[in-house]
Amino acid sequence: MTPRKILVTAALPYANGEIHLGHLLEYIQTDIWVRFQKMMGNKCHFVCADDAHGTPIMLKADELGISAEKLIADVSKRHQEDFKEFYIDFSQYHSTHSPENKAILTSIYNKLNAAGFIKKRIISQAFDPEKKMFLPDRFIQGDCPKCAAKEQYGDNCEVCGATYSPTELKNAKSAISGATPITKNSEHYFFDLPQFETQLKKWTQSGHLQDEISNKLAEWFEQGLQQWDISRDMPYFGFQIPGAADKYFYVWLDAPIGYMASFKKLCERENIDFDEYFSKDTKTELYHFIGKDIVYFHALFWPAMLMGADYRTPNAIFAHGFLTVNGQKMSKSRGTFIQAKTYLESLNPEYLRYYYAYKLSDKINDIDLNFEDFKQRVNSDLVGKVVNIASRSAGFIVKKFDKTLSAYAIEGDLYNQFVAKSEVIAKHYEARQYSRAMREIMQLADQANQYIDEQKPWQLIKQDGNEAKVHDVASLAINLFRVLMTYLKPVLPEMAKQVEQFLQVDLNWQDLKHPLTKHKINKFKPLMLRIEDEQIEQVISASKSSIQPNENTKEDDNMIQIDDFTKIDLRVAKIVKAQAVDGADKLLQLTLDIGEPENRNVFAGIKSHYKPEDLEGQLTVMVANLAPRKMQFGISEGMVLAAGDGKSLHILAPDSGAKAGMKIS
Ligand code: 2FM
Ligand code: ZN
Repeated sequence: MTPRKILVTAALPYANGEIHLGHLLEYIQTDIWVRFQKMMGNKCHFVCADDAHGTPIMLKADELGISAEKLIADVSKRHQEDFKEFYIDFSQYHSTHSPENKAILTSIYNKLNAAGFIKKRIISQAFDPEKKMFLPDRFIQGDCPKCAAKEQYGDNCEVCGATYSPTELKNAKSAISGATPITKNSEHYFFDLPQFETQLKKWTQSGHLQDEISNKLAEWFEQGLQQWDISRDMPYFGFQIPGAADKYFYVWLDAPIGYMASFKKLCERENIDFDEYFSKDTKTELYHFIGKDIVYFHALFWPAMLMGADYRTPNAIFAHGFLTVNGQKMSKSRGTFIQAKTYLESLNPEYLRYYYAYKLSDKINDIDLNFEDFKQRVNSDLVGKVVNIASRSAGFIVKKFDKTLSAYAIEGDLYNQFVAKSEVIAKHYEARQYSRAMREIMQLADQANQYIDEQKPWQLIKQDGNEAKVHDVASLAINLFRVLMTYLKPVLPEMAKQVEQFLQVDLNWQDLKHPLTKHKINKFKPLMLRIEDEQIEQVISASKSSIQPNENTKEDDNMIQIDDFTKIDLRVAKIVKAQAVDGADKLLQLTLDIGEPENRNVFAGIKSHYKPEDLEGQLTVMVANLAPRKMQFGISEGMVLAAGDGKSLHILAPDSGAKAGMKIS
């Protein structure tokens, strides 16, 4: 079969932040697929780049007092260090701020413009009069027009979920300077997406997208396609629009073109025919791995741009879900917003590669990295099953048989059974069903261990006349290990490399038909250590301590802002009266004096811990502005604070000298 020619991309990370475990889900998913394709003998190029343009990058550079060029160069270096450590093997890593990208962008824009796909019109937008710049939605803050929640960004409220236009925000402020934005007109350039409606409808429903995505797109088509604003006014960090003074291309226009630019760079370096990969009649394949949040750009704008500029369109867009950690959104305060570098200080990158592979499928559902499961999975599968096969067999070969495998390594048809799985495992990799592939491989690992358990070479060796048998058993076990490590090579490239040294052979899919017989191996060195709890604890605590004191933790559901806290009216309360409530096992009814004319009536679930008479006269702490709640036995007008561990319970009391009604702050 002629090898396929494949170009693969992963989404371009923004050049203003560090690579974290969420990013790595995609790069690992893609890298596994590319390594697999190469093992199948296909020509597979994997390109990526830093996404280096846009307002946030410009502002970040300002904040750091460096040029945007310096910022993106520094970040690119750090990104590439991280990718290398996780064995992400790009054929080319480039930048969207590159001459190749500028040239292709300009040429695509000119083609689109000449074909009548670019429209201009004047729009009015929020403008920061101090900073003298138009404000993207996320740089405008104000009170939600619906629920009045403070400090809501741009176009939607995180508290009530309302969507609105930034001009509807009350008390709007520029998040950059704090100035009140004014509205200003400016001419913008639009890509006329609606002209592509028919072609796009067809393209999105003909097998290039996952079903969930095609369905989502059908909804978007129903709502109607809109023209896409592709220009930004200065100041902006990006490429200027030819013939338009002070106007720049929006970052999202040149970002996907960055895929082409990175490939162009590779083509120049390695003498590859760029046009063969991008001409309309190409036989080569193009795949984009992305997160589900950027489907709109990749499944609508991008194919339309390619169609409009007379290029080929992608064979497929492969979207994945988000990463959650321990079942929740990654969070800085919980220490689960983990940067690649922090992870690497304590843990082996191949643990993560395996765990992601174990969880990934071709679907777009979110993937949870549960640290307890992560530890158990890696320890049990990789250390306990796979590595164990070699570590319990290699000693015999090395010590007793001059490091040489026996002539007849095939016992029964176990070896052939292992090799027979190669097709189904390859099919799973090809279909991005890594989770299924890992399960198949681990079932085989169980079988290999079971074989060794049954044969008991450690006992056989103690009895005379069994040497040849032990030699065959250990040799077969090593051969089975070789098959498993070949299957795992796309996921565990570094461990595979060590195994290649140990076995003195390249691990190739195609060679598996032939077992290693009369073959010399090396001494076995431990290939992978178990994960210990402390390592995970270190990663979490280091991730917590990497939060900058001034960092906004808005993205964290569990955090409240100081404003939220000061809303709570905490008061010292005197328990004037405490009594049991008829029919309620747990409740005491408390009458509390908080220095107001009327006493408060509060029901508290403390009956099993306190005798009512002991409480009378004591001071405690209550939330005085909790909205009254109607309970079965009456209305509760606040809440008394108590500490407990599930067994005992202790109401809080102020230090001596405090008086009923005092405010707590
Ligand atoms: O969402 C993001 O992180 C973007 N930087 C991805 C760009 S992918 C491509 F289109 F360039
Ligand atoms: Zn709201």
